[in-house]
Amino acid sequence: MKKIIIAIDGFSSCGKSTMAKDLAKEIGYIYIDSGAMYRAVTLYCLQHGMFNADGSIQEETLKQQMKDIHISFQLDPASQRPATYLNGKNVEEEIRTIEVSSHVSPIATLGFVREEMVRQQQAMGKEKGIVMDGRDIGTAVFPHAELKIFVTASAQIRAERRYKELKEKGQDVSFEEILKNIEDRDRIDQSREISPLRKADDALLLDNSHMSIAEQKEWLKEQFNKATHE
Ligand code: DC
Repeated sequence: MKKIIIAIDGFSSCGKSTMAKDLAKEIGYIYIDSGAMYRAVTLYCLQHGMFNADGSIQEETLKQQMKDIHISFQLDPASQRPATYLNGKNVEEEIRTIEVSSHVSPIATLGFVREEMVRQQQAMGKEKGIVMDGRDIGTAVFPHAELKIFVTASAQIRAERRYKELKEKGQDVSFEEILKNIEDRDRIDQSREISPLRKADDALLLDNSHMSIAEQKEWLKEQFNKATHE
């Protein structure tokens, strides 16, 4: 069967990663969470004191240090689970904290950061057989992807899902804080100048507000079958 590129874009916390990961596993494709890459850059900036008190970023410092930021996806030898690595260290947990979530949007608006991320993402998809999720995969990273999906769900429902997830992980967060973070990120992601979040004209729309994970999985598999048998 021919190998294709599957681009899954959409709003934050709408379950893109879960469905993308599941599909990749089932069909034996590589899965890349492009958001994790922007999060890893953000974590690096936090660790190196590059944010000003007002939340803005010291752009020049980051520009100079981009070459020192090495992001990869590897199997963690201890847990045997795939994880995001920043300069040789597993940061999978650290990049999911609310602190990183609330600093990531300004990083993702920077042209020089996006250029470097897109370059690395395109290199990862060279051999096809890849499922990548993010905001600009179908529009900027792989505009010729054979299958493009755009996922959405209401902000309220996304915040409820995120709240439950973080609480289960033992993080001390309030529902209001999460809802605000999601709404803020939606706004910034859609209004930024470079590669704003938007549905590619040829992407299939999936509103999963009232769908179970199993239903989404089935729908996505069906789209994959159609795309590979055309
Ligand atoms: O999917 P996520 O919430 O982990 O993404 C984190 C942030 O990174 C999000 O606010 C938008 C940004 N992002 C992006 O600009 N482009 C991508 N391809 C993926 C994520």
